[in-house]
Amino acid sequence: MDTHVETSEDSLDREWWTEAVVYQIYPRSFNDSDGDGVGDLSGIVENVAYLDELGVDAVWLSPVYESPGEDNGYDISDYRAIDDQYGELADWERLVECLHDRDIRLIMDLVINHTADEHAWFQRSRAGEEPYDDYYIWREGDPAEPPNNWESIFGGPAWSYDDQREAWYLHVFDESQPDLNWRNPDVRREIADVISWWREKGTDGFRIDAASHISKPEGLPDGDPDTDPTGIAHYSHGPTLDAYLEELTERTLGEAGVMTVAEMGHTTVEQAAEYVASESNGLEMVFQFDHVGIGDSPEDLFDPEASDEWDLTALKDIVTRQQTEIAWPAPFLGNHDLPRAVSLFGDDERYHRESATLLATFLLTLRGTPFVYQGDAIGMHNAEFQHLAEIDDVMTIGRVESLQEAGVIDSHEEVRQFVNERSRDHARTPMQWTDGKHAGFTDGSPWLKVNERYTEINVEAARADTHSVLAHYRELIDLRHEWAVLVDGDYELLLPEDEQLYAYRRTLSEETALIVLNWSAEPATFESPVPTDGADAVTGNYTDVPSTPDGTTFRPYEAAIYRL
Ligand code: NOJ
Repeated sequence: MDTHVETSEDSLDREWWTEAVVYQIYPRSFNDSDGDGVGDLSGIVENVAYLDELGVDAVWLSPVYESPGEDNGYDISDYRAIDDQYGELADWERLVECLHDRDIRLIMDLVINHTADEHAWFQRSRAGEEPYDDYYIWREGDPAEPPNNWESIFGGPAWSYDDQREAWYLHVFDESQPDLNWRNPDVRREIADVISWWREKGTDGFRIDAASHISKPEGLPDGDPDTDPTGIAHYSHGPTLDAYLEELTERTLGEAGVMTVAEMGHTTVEQAAEYVASESNGLEMVFQFDHVGIGDSPEDLFDPEASDEWDLTALKDIVTRQQTEIAWPAPFLGNHDLPRAVSLFGDDERYHRESATLLATFLLTLRGTPFVYQGDAIGMHNAEFQHLAEIDDVMTIGRVESLQEAGVIDSHEEVRQFVNERSRDHARTPMQWTDGKHAGFTDGSPWLKVNERYTEINVEAARADTHSVLAHYRELIDLRHEWAVLVDGDYELLLPEDEQLYAYRRTLSEETALIVLNWSAEPATFESPVPTDGADAVTGNYTDVPSTPDGTTFRPYEAAIYRL
């Protein structure tokens, strides 16, 4: 059944995503309709009205394909099936229909660097069965000596020995996620067919997972042991990546109306700018991670010289480069792999509402297509984990094990500290819908603990409060839809050296917007370096928006937008 619903702009506006605000759903944690403790597709259908009320234009759905679930769906065992936990294909079709009925597009996650080891291709490959024998990256050799020194992003060697095939296979992520051999044209054909299959079913766009790792150098050289992880420079941006993307574009991704955003870890702003500028690789956008990596690297946590502080001027520098150097940026402050934005960038206790709404103002007044992560629109923040046993995330567990093996961490307290600083599970705790049992997420027992503050921070409470974080998101999303200067006006940073205020101008022909953010817990006075005569206050995150920006002392985490 083709569930693609033509919306009125389809034929007229090829670049629908330029005006869009995208909402990322992590389905496992969104809403559980059948009481098994895991979110599902029917649970999303039940809450499509919430997405509509928020005013978003598209949903990026993290993987719902059949999967053993070692990495919560980022390990696919069948690209054309829905995992039982999430429902079945008919539920997915119903979801697309409900979204399209409300003019909300659907972006699917494409995990094509690797599959699950339970995928039939890998099972046949490990049995040496043609043509699958060459679908993955195999090397023969001494079972005690991996083919090279590459390490996995999740910790430990990037190679595992398979007793059945009597050979090593490469996995840039977990050992249960063998890397596909993209040098093999049959693999590339299979992936293009998968994409076409989902496109024909009504998918409007794709987020390409781990896109920077798909191409590996020929001969698999050794990596530099000083990089973290060793080998990453070799298995990122490999020599044939452009060619693979171009081929996918010609076959399927280049189709009119299809939006593609590539997740590219370990990618500089310059590289991201080049990928986006290229006409032939099919990528409309790239997720570039410098701003969210502004804190320490995981190992630095136990380096006495390192500090957990981040600096506003450094953040301005990074975001300004993303805004001005990348032809079409994809701003985001959170996703399912990161700490909660309000915990990383704000003050999730004393100035919870103020800093969460400041972040909303920031995200929704940047140039490009903003991506809002599930839960951020109500200000969900990091959880407090007591034990490793409370953690589900394969990456946190892998990293703890390798830090323990290296003797970097040892005591229960050190493990607890690492987990609370770094775990991806902060972003994955169940969505907080109500102040009822398990935050209204499930009638059963949730797969991951619910954040303690759900009685206060939840959708029901936010809906009832006209000054809530949610109300502010709704207002700003509406504003963005009405005021083109916020979407594609030029971005110009003001006061680059100021350590409390982050201010910028957005300009599109005669229209100018001025955004002033006091990104600190202390008052800060804005001495405008540009004329602000006749400025109109458009909105702000305190109930009384200062009527004029110049010379005004902005309160802690105050955010205000002016029309100049
Ligand atoms: C990036 C995804 O966002 C992350 O969740 C996943 O673990 C890795 N890629 C591997 O697929």
